[in-house]
Amino acid sequence: MTRITTLDDADAVATRASREIARLLEDALGRRGMAHLALSGGATPAQTYELLAEGITDWTGVHVWFADERCVPPEHEQSNYLLARRTLLDRIEIAAEHVHRMKGELGPDQGACDYASELAGLTAAELEAATSVPRQTSAANHGGAAAPKPLPVLDVIVLGIGPDGHVASLFPGASTLRAGDQAICLPVNDSPKPPSERITLSLAVLRAARRCVLLATGAEKANAISAALAAPSEQVPASLLARERLTVIIDDGAAAANPAA
Ligand code: 6PG
Repeated sequence: MTRITTLDDADAVATRASREIARLLEDALGRRGMAHLALSGGATPAQTYELLAEGITDWTGVHVWFADERCVPPEHEQSNYLLARRTLLDRIEIAAEHVHRMKGELGPDQGACDYASELAGLTAAELEAATSVPRQTSAANHGGAAAPKPLPVLDVIVLGIGPDGHVASLFPGASTLRAGDQAICLPVNDSPKPPSERITLSLAVLRAARRCVLLATGAEKANAISAALAAPSEQVPASLLARERLTVIIDDGAAAANPAA
């Protein structure tokens, strides 16, 4: 069941979101001794990240990943990594090897391939792979029966949403939405939101996550939120998220087109 919380304004959204994300991470840490968090870019989550930095006292077991990245250097103003550094990573004690940066400077294809390897490289035990969504490797690779490779399962993925209903860098009608349940990380060369070259987690990885936390504020997101909660459609990537593992935290402006929200 999708959990929808509507609050007065953006400050209240950031406060509630940071508390919910902290709760989800603490739960994962308690259950498995580690927690895998993926961050999106954009303006909406920045305040949430700043509050999250104070929301968890011990970040030792947390791994920080990224839901998407622009193909720019990590110090570039458009970098999602730079946003995360300024609002969260530079404010917490976290091991460098626990921060898994998408290397946008490699370009879409190499960057996506590199990240898929890193994410897949974590052992099944570390990611508590969701055996319900095994990935079949080709028999040719192993000369025998296909050995199912589990799809990485992240604990919390923080998502913004565009006015067009995109999440991460999965855009309406894009071929990335049809990459299948074996895809982990994908190149984007034609993003309608600048810059055009990006790297994005796949829809399969978003859908496999234990929880996606979708944040939206302002009337300009109202139609996107309404469409995200309506029937699934490739024209609204947010509507393709796993509804039973989705938390939506929005303000009155973003809820305006969806009385149920
Ligand atoms: C990106 C983001 C993207 C963003 C939405 C919402 O790299 O641009 O990951 O998915 O979250 O476009 O952005 P705003 O919060 O700025 O509206």
